Amino acid sequence: MGRIEKVSPFIVMEILEKAKELEKKGRDIVHMEIGEPDLPPSPRVLEKIEKVKKEANHYTPSLGIWELREEIAYYYWRKYRVYISPERILITTGTSGAFSLIFSALFEPGEGIVFTDPGYPCYKNFAQIYCLEPFTVQIDNSTNYELRSFHLEELKGYTEHYKGFLITSPSNPVGNIYSKSTLKELANYAEKEDLLFISDEIYHGLNYEKEVHTALEFTDKAIVVNGFSKYFCMPGFRLGWVIVPKKYVRPMQIIAQNLFISPPTLSQLVAIEALRDDTYLKKVRNTFKERRDYLYSELSKLFKIETPPEGAFYIWANIEKYSKNSLKFAKDLLEKAGVAVTPGVDFGENKTNLYIRFAYTASLDRLKEGVERIKRFLENY
Ligand SMILES: Cc1ncc(COP(=O)(O)O)c(C=O)c1O
Repeated sequence: MGRIEKVSPFIVMEILEKAKELEKKGRDIVHMEIGEPDLPPSPRVLEKIEKVKKEANHYTPSLGIWELREEIAYYYWRKYRVYISPERILITTGTSGAFSLIFSALFEPGEGIVFTDPGYPCYKNFAQIYCLEPFTVQIDNSTNYELRSFHLEELKGYTEHYKGFLITSPSNPVGNIYSKSTLKELANYAEKEDLLFISDEIYHGLNYEKEVHTALEFTDKAIVVNGFSKYFCMPGFRLGWVIVPKKYVRPMQIIAQNLFISPPTLSQLVAIEALRDDTYLKKVRNTFKERRDYLYSELSKLFKIETPPEGAFYIWANIEKYSKNSLKFAKDLLEKAGVAVTPGVDFGENKTNLYIRFAYTASLDRLKEGVERIKRFLENY
């Protein structure tokens, strides 16, 4: 099989397309499958667009505009009390752009990288595209869905072949948050074993009780990815960043010049406002927290939810008492009840046929409607 044939399609797209088809026919669908915020960006961002849109028609430096890199460095100081030189911050076209740079500049073809299962599906597809070998570690609620150093030790029994590992916290699809002690453990392990520690922190800020910590608090060798698509509610602006040790900046810059020329200019000019608007960001977090509280409490009565949803905007629910086929269950739920969710099988092979992912990226009223429909659907399932 050619390497591109190994890149898997997103099954949720099938659900989304089917939902659209039903909507065209006049059916009302509650969307709990969509992994992007329904909230607008900060009003300060929208105002700034009007002011700078005429200045935005040119490329910027390939590493991004200096003021934004400085503002991100300041954000790390304010939020985590870590000092990062802006020179180590690269602005990218979404975090997806950051992954392209990491996988192409820091790995040679054939080198291995470790991901978790379940996990965000694009990682392993990126690995395929850039000719890396993906290894997956099965995680479950015995470690609160955290990758731990003992998993990596165990993997050594099978292969010495991997160069780094990647974690997501808060995570997609489970919504768990890595504890400070696990991050410290992974940072120490990576340094001891000379591994690349890649931390996807795109859902930082969407944490409801538990604190989030950046991997950079524990090692300045970590590769930290973050962006504007989730907490900052700007997915269509296609903007992210990656923080790397200084020695990687130049090789990644060369790749960025060739792959992207520069990140989107207008987005960079306005993103500074998003980072500064603490009042709006607080509102965003409170909105998602209110939805999380409601949905978690209601869904817990219907499904087994093994790991409390601590962050991001997802709930990972076990459907075993109703079905052992999450794809069929999701299709039935859509067709019979008009509720769209993501089947677990999109996120890996580790018992994912027994889980579905709910996203609370719809208003509280819509979520309430969705819950009523799910209740009726389950009565006869
Ligand atoms: C865990 C995770 N990382 C990265 C991304 C990519 O986001 P973007 O390219 O919009 O920054 C997503 C999108 O859903 C995600 O869930």
